[in-house]
Amino acid sequence: MSVHILDAMAREGFEEVVALHDRRSGLRGFLGVHDTVRGPAFGGIRRWTYRDEREALLDVLRLARAMTRKVALLDLPAGGGKIVLLEREGVDWPEAYRFIGRHLEGRGGRFEAGPDVATGADELREVARETRFVTDPGQGGPGELAEATAEGVFRSMAATLRALDAEEDFARRTVVVQGLGAVGLGVARRLRAVGARVLAADLAPERVEAAERELGVEPIEAGGALAVECDIFAPCALGGLLHDLTVHRLRCRAIVGAANNVLARSLVGDRLHERGILYAPDFVVNAGALVRGVVFRRAGRREDVAAIGRRIEAVLDDVLARAQAEGAPPARVAAALADDRIEAWRVAAHGGAG
Ligand code: NAI
Repeated sequence: MSVHILDAMAREGFEEVVALHDRRSGLRGFLGVHDTVRGPAFGGIRRWTYRDEREALLDVLRLARAMTRKVALLDLPAGGGKIVLLEREGVDWPEAYRFIGRHLEGRGGRFEAGPDVATGADELREVARETRFVTDPGQGGPGELAEATAEGVFRSMAATLRALDAEEDFARRTVVVQGLGAVGLGVARRLRAVGARVLAADLAPERVEAAERELGVEPIEAGGALAVECDIFAPCALGGLLHDLTVHRLRCRAIVGAANNVLARSLVGDRLHERGILYAPDFVVNAGALVRGVVFRRAGRREDVAAIGRRIEAVLDDVLARAQAEGAPPARVAAALADDRIEAWRVAAHGGAG
């Protein structure tokens, strides 16, 4: 493995990275705790077919750091972390999730786990059999998380349109939604309710057909979604889709979506900026579920979805105004703002850099 893990941790200010292996279930994975200075690390459990363990390790680092940036920008009393599990043959997954539960219980609340790719209500229920430190997917939990995310994405679109044209005017807008899953469908529904034209793609044709029937969205080819002319391109499938080979194909004015780490590298954000495409940073736009989860765990309250949307919109308004004033890419402005705030928390807590 060629990742110099301790150097990477020092550079990015990580507290802890743990390699996980469970002989009984066959589980392999990593747990990353980026920062806990303001409270326990919140992070989803992602299960994915990684090429190798190096790729999984890089993913846990990127995703955990992004979580701290989210909590910092949204000013939540929490920290950032992530768990990634390597999808492979022969793993007893229910047992593996119970192993994760026991591991989290042993941490005594320093890490609180939630959903992510391939870890939904069923998997979280297994984790919850062994620990209190996990989002309850049922009646006793914070409520619908994807709805909170969808509302945050939708209100972020409003903020972005105002930054572009000084008005929202959804009725004359065209939005391309890539991925009609739990979040993408919620975004499409909100857009149609305010009269926007929605073009949508999904790898699962039945999802597109249902959205066409119920909402009047217009289907497009999944492979070409990126290149369709529109006001806003909304990536709500997977991250990493904008890189050196795809960025030139975009024909949108702005990008606002739920997927994490849409930009494969931060330089891609600079390319978008040069091309005049406004990129609303993913770690602001998609923070709705995190806000709902943290407020519930820390304050015992089920935060109203509309209030979550307004909170995210206000943060994005601020980021976009600063970016405009500085003539800088919004992703860089948001990251710097978050990192400054994290550093201030660390100084306040420990009197020095982390
Ligand atoms: P989901 O799994 O319910 O939906 C994803 C959809 O994208 C599926 O319908 C899938 O068929 C489709 N898809 C996958 N690859 C595609 C492609 N190349 N082209 C078109 N469609 C494709 O996931 P969910 O919960 O809606 O989340 C969407 C994204 O937002 C994910 O990247 C997730 O990590 C991120 N996110 C979700 C949050 C939540 O609250 N659910 C919170 C923060 C981020």
